[in-house]
Formats: sequence, C-alpha cells, structure tokens
Amino acid sequence: MVCGAMGVEEHRDWGNVDYAPLLNGQAFPPDFMWGVATASHQIEGGNTNNWSRFEPSSKSGQHSGDACDHWNRRTEDMELIQNLKVTHYRFSLEWSRIEPEMGVWNEDAIAWYSGLVDDLLQRGIQPMVTLHHFTNPLWWEDLGAFEKEANIVYWIRFSTKMFEVLSDRVTWWCTINEPAVYASMGYVLGEFPPGERSFRKTRNVSLNLMRAHARCYRMLKSMENGQKANIGLVKNINIFDPYRRWNPLHRIQANLLDGMFNRCWLKGLKNGRFKPPSAFRSVAIEGLKSSSDFIGLNYYTHLLTTPFMPTKVEIDPLIRPWEERTDFRYAMYAEGLKRAIEMVANLNIPIIVTENGVADDDDDMRPEHVRRHLQITSEAIAKGYDVRGFYHWTLMDNFEWAEGYDQRFGLYHVDFDTQKRTLRESGALYASIAQHHRMPQVVVLAGGLGSRLGEKTKDMPKPLVEVGGKPMLAHILDWVNGQGCNRVLILTGHHGEKFDDFSYPGLELSFVQEPHQLGTGGALWNARDELEDEFILLWGDDYHPIDYNPLVELHRKTSSLLTMTVTPDHEEKNLQFEQGRLVAYNKEEIDIGRFNGYEAGTSVVRKSVVLDHGKEGTWSWENTIYPALSTEIHVHVDSTQFWDIGTPERLERLEKFFNESSR
Ligand code: FCB
Repeated sequence: MVCGAMGVEEHRDWGNVDYAPLLNGQAFPPDFMWGVATASHQIEGGNTNNWSRFEPSSKSGQHSGDACDHWNRRTEDMELIQNLKVTHYRFSLEWSRIEPEMGVWNEDAIAWYSGLVDDLLQRGIQPMVTLHHFTNPLWWEDLGAFEKEANIVYWIRFSTKMFEVLSDRVTWWCTINEPAVYASMGYVLGEFPPGERSFRKTRNVSLNLMRAHARCYRMLKSMENGQKANIGLVKNINIFDPYRRWNPLHRIQANLLDGMFNRCWLKGLKNGRFKPPSAFRSVAIEGLKSSSDFIGLNYYTHLLTTPFMPTKVEIDPLIRPWEERTDFRYAMYAEGLKRAIEMVANLNIPIIVTENGVADDDDDMRPEHVRRHLQITSEAIAKGYDVRGFYHWTLMDNFEWAEGYDQRFGLYHVDFDTQKRTLRESGALYASIAQHHRMPQVVVLAGGLGSRLGEKTKDMPKPLVEVGGKPMLAHILDWVNGQGCNRVLILTGHHGEKFDDFSYPGLELSFVQEPHQLGTGGALWNARDELEDEFILLWGDDYHPIDYNPLVELHRKTSSLLTMTVTPDHEEKNLQFEQGRLVAYNKEEIDIGRFNGYEAGTSVVRKSVVLDHGKEGTWSWENTIYPALSTEIHVHVDSTQFWDIGTPERLERLEKFFNESSR
C-alpha cells in the first residue's frame, strides 16, 4: 500500500480474491443496469465532422473511414448487443448527420436513431443517449464550437430537437461525455481536434462545456417527458498518484492534476461555481448546481506523477513494478475505480459507471480486467455506495480517436477488412456475469378466462380485460418493466389469437399458445422449451406491485427451487409457513386454524421444477407442485396488497385504484 496526496493508493493481492459470488450471480442486486457503450463516430462510418477533417493530421494519421460500418449493419449489431445479455445500451447521436448544415435537419438520420431506439426496446434493452461525444458538425466547428459561449445555443437546439423525438421512449440521457478530456486533449495536448495548445482557450472551452451542460439539463428538464427522464453529465475520473510518495514535488503535481482534471469539475457541479483549469477565479454558472440526476463515471486508470510528465502520449507512462500495462501503455488499476466512486459519491446522486474497459488485442488481460472492475463495483455497492449500473467500454473494436484502429477495446473483435465480428472470451465472460445477475425472465400465466365476468369475457382471457383504460396485462407489464425485467413469456392459453395485437415496447415479448386448455401446470409444461433456467411466475389476472429485488435475492441466496411470496395479512389464509419455509398449502380449504399466510402470486421458479414434476395433459401447478416440493419451498414475506379481477366487484375496485394512482 502506498499513501499519496489523493488518499491511499491501495494495491490488492488479486490472487486471493474470491470471485465466486460474481460468477454465481450473487454480487449485484437483480435490478442492476448491465450495459455496453459506444459512440457514433467510433462505429458508424462515413461521417463528416471535426474528427474526419482532423484525422489526416492526428497522431495515428488513420482515417475513421467506414469504421465498423454500423450505420449499415444496425440490425446485426443489435443482435451482438443482445447476445451480451445486457439490459442497457449507451450510444451517442451524431450531430453532424442530424444537422449537416446549420438549421438543416436530416430526417433520414433522425429516423435512423429513432429506429435504433425502437429496435432496442423491442429486444428489451433500454437505450441511454449521449448528446455530445467529442464530435461536432463542421459548420459548428468553424464557428469555434465550445470556444465561444454564443455557440452553445446551437447545440441546445439540437439537443432539444432530439429530446422531442426520442424522450417518449428514452429515459436515460447523458449531456456531455468527458468535458475534461475534450478540453485537455483538444486544447492542451493537441491530440484531438482542433489540435491546439492554448491555456486561454482551454479555460474558455471548459467554462462553455459546463455552461452548455447546465443549460441543456435545465432545458430538457422543462420539456415534456423531462421530469421522468434521468439526465446527467459523464465525467472521466483519472486517479493521480505521486510516483514517489516522499517527494513533495511529486505530491504537488498529483494534487495539481487532480484539481484540474477531477476536482474542479465535480466541485462545479456540486456548488454551481466553476473554476476551470488554470483559472484564478471561479465563475457562477446559472443552473449548474445540482444539474445532474446521476453522475456518469468513466474510469480507466491511474497515472503516476512527477514534475516531468510527458505531455505526449507516445512516451510510456510510469507504472508500479507489479502492475500490468494495457495496450494503451497505462496500467490496469482496478483499485482506482473504488477511489473514483468515492470521489463522485460526494455529489450525493446515483452513480452509473458509464464506461470502463481496456485496450487488449489478444484478450489475455480483459477477462481479469472485467472481473476486477466488477468486483470493485460490487464491493462499493455492498458498502452502501449508490452505484446503479455498469457499461462496459465497448461493444466492438472501433475507431479509437487519436489512436486510430490500433487500440482494440471491444468485447467483440472486429476484422476491419471483412467487418466480421467475433465474440472474445472476455465478451462471453461479461455476458455470463450479466446473465447470472439480471432480473429473471418473467412468465405470465395469461390463459385464464373471465368466467365470472359476464358475457364479454366468455372467450376472452382475463389479462386482456380493460381496466383503468388499458388491458390488465399492460398494467402488469408496466410493473414488470419498472422492476428492471426485460424478457417476458406470455402463456396465452388456447385463445392465443386474442393476443395478436398486443405489444409492449421496452420488453422482449414472446407468446406460447396451448392446443386446448391445459391448466396452469400444463401451460408451463407446454412452454418448457421457452423457459429460462430461472423465471418469475406471475398470474395474468393479478396485479401484484411488489419489489422484486428482495424476492429474487432471497431465491438466489438460498439456491431455492421455488420461492413464493406470501402475505400474512390477507383476510383469507391458504398456507402455513415456518422459519422461511412452506409447511402446508391448501387452496380449497381456506383458513384451517394453523394457517398463517396467503399465497400472493409472484414467485421465482427454477426450470428444473417444471421438468422434474411436469407431465403432459391438463394439470394444476399449485395443486401439484406445492405439495410435491412441500418444505423445500422458500417463503418471501411481503404484505403489499395484490389485486385480482376475478369478479365484477374486484374489477371495479382495481379500476378505482388505477384511476386514483394515475391522478
Ligand atoms: C473514453 C472515451 C471513449 C473511448 C474510451 C477508450 O475516454 O469516452 O470514446 O475512446 O475512452
């Protein structure tokens, strides 16, 4: 352990870390956001912007050119994302495509992004949009881009336009990606366009980036859908550690760089007064204070400081003797992510790791990189830090700015001659970790007919009965969606055609119909090929708004076969439970003395239960499985009221509830 000016430079013995919980799905809460991130210019290909103009004179001299040809391969790439089992995808909008000339909007480009959003939602993947990720249209670059405060209006106009188009479906928004990187690479180190070295311009650009962020946030928040949107700044945190802790000059340098690169930006966000790098005075920026609903945290490494640090990225940075260099030449230092989380936690807003990844062409380091950084993230959550999600940088190898195509950050390898994408081992690992942690598949038993609801539902499954302005099933899926689930299997009974017009963006829906009425157990057996290893089972005529997190967590922690939700408060009782286990269940003989609970519906089931106890034909799930498993069933106690629509009176009560809660 080395102590530095910026706190303790922890180094862990990674050989002794137990990754089992990470690999078994027990290291993160079930509603954690699992993501992968990209940026438009790095993958789309065929862009004309400040970068395409700068590329011939960039460090690598390489042109972005076709990049990953993502613009033409969107569907194929959506499949790659889906194969990673992630629940979220972060991408950026290419302003130069959308507004190629000042005030001229390219409707085709806008439609392309809108289609991307629809495609993601249909696959149950939530989009996160970045409004500015390093690139500018040429007309705006020529006006001076962020060098001039007067230019900000144009970017706000673009952001507003895209928010109008997408905010009915997109709830996660990043304003500006890494303002400190944009300012320092473009105006101090000269490695990004416009390739300048001017402290004066760096100061102005920094100030204007913060002004632009604050105005964008306020503007979008005031618009339709603004209040339900989560809008935040994305901040890269670089940890600076003095190379020799005992050397005051190294410590001063670390402190200086930390101040310019990290602290001044975070302080600005927190207090609303911003003192840009190398400025003497801070400036109050209107609307800046508390202008983020979450903080996007990008973390890659720490840098060891001396007064003689190279300002050219070509020279290898110093690293500790035991550290491993990534292809980018800086060290893999996962411990720094913990320190970065602690740093941004001071803002007191939810944290989302919006980027973390590694350049590693042969993928011999990335699997461990993934494990370490996720381990650190899960430990931070266990300590109480409010980290909501993690987006791996990046989906596939792409155009890495000044480095061109030489630095490969992808979970998929890309052959740029053929555009073939190949999943790397690290990609498979990340997918497996996400898959083990994300919310289970939801299975809805939706075939029950409304026998007591009168004529209109004689051959209409109850979940399609309208209540509070839409089908019961849509209310159930609203809840499911809000709980972070993204895959739903609907067992439609033998009236499957009634569901033909049913759709629900934001969830990947599939339907299984029965040849004839099979009962609840028969329906599950009939759909066994579509069941995932673990699923949440819901009754399609019940609305049961409980928090899924503790239920799923209990199920996973106890390695249970079946975990059911029980409410002890219901007026009727149909089961007995003791010490967290089911002891007796009887659906027919309600309330015999010792009974102390009622099955409320929502349960988590292992597919093996269906396979081991299922059979052909018509049979009842509850009457067969509950007695068969008896004391092996775990009980999750939750007294949240549940609503059913079994009779006209109950339907009316629920109608009232929805109407009142929508007010
Ligand atoms: C970040 C950028 C991202 C990517 C990674 C490697 O700074 O936001 O576009 O280039 O670095």
